[in-house]
Amino acid sequence: MPSSKIKKNIITVRGRERSLTPKQRSLFSNLDKYEIDLTSLKKDNIHKSKKIFFEIGFGSGDIIYKQAKLNPENIYIGIEYYRKGIAQLIEKIETTKLENLKIFHGDARRVLANIPDEIFDEIWLFFPDPWPKKRHSKRRFIQLEMIELLHRKIKQGGKLLISSDDKNYIAWTLSLIFMRNFFNWLSDEPSDWKHPNNDYFGSKYEKKGIKSDREPYFLKFLKI
Ligand SMILES: C[S@@+](CC[C@H](N)C(=O)[O-])C[C@H]1O[C@@H](n2cnc3c(N)ncnc32)[C@H](O)[C@@H]1O
Repeated sequence: MPSSKIKKNIITVRGRERSLTPKQRSLFSNLDKYEIDLTSLKKDNIHKSKKIFFEIGFGSGDIIYKQAKLNPENIYIGIEYYRKGIAQLIEKIETTKLENLKIFHGDARRVLANIPDEIFDEIWLFFPDPWPKKRHSKRRFIQLEMIELLHRKIKQGGKLLISSDDKNYIAWTLSLIFMRNFFNWLSDEPSDWKHPNNDYFGSKYEKKGIKSDREPYFLKFLKI
């Protein structure tokens, strides 16, 4: 469990959340069982013996859940601030008794600053909130300072995966990545950004976009 002091500082967004059903409330109350203390990952040296994957904003957890189920030798950690999504992921974990998938409830912006460097093999940001209006661009998760922070948390040779079906978000991300020398974009040909990695299963959110003719883009960056 994270210390209560850190915890108080990292759960910041509650206002827009829809209310939970009684079942979801009950599932959410089990969060303690699946929570992980991110600050102690390095202390336990788990990152040296295991591959650790970190998903920011997992929504209902479809992607991280399927990957964790498929690769029991790795550790998967998802962070989300909406309790509904957390309850949905807990339900999946409980149904299959998965042991390699952990959850963190909080705001990734704040959490990242508190966890040790060079800990993750991959960080995933799949279909982040696009904040399409130019005047809202400061609310996008990807900012110049965030790219530097993400770079610090990834192990040498590790990757950052960002996908979106919002062309502006993709262009915004690439332009910020190119401003600094933190990541190489793994893109030799269009199929590199048209397709996700192996083992990847789309989320409901992503499928909804495809139905509305929004093409998904899958950016893969290698830490320099
Ligand atoms: C558009 S949804 C996409 C969900 C999922 N990645 C998918 O592909 O279906 C974005 C999610 O990111 C979460 N999110 C946005 N900013 C976050 C932050 N700073 N920390 C944690 N979660 C965040 C939101 O609560 C929301 O569930």
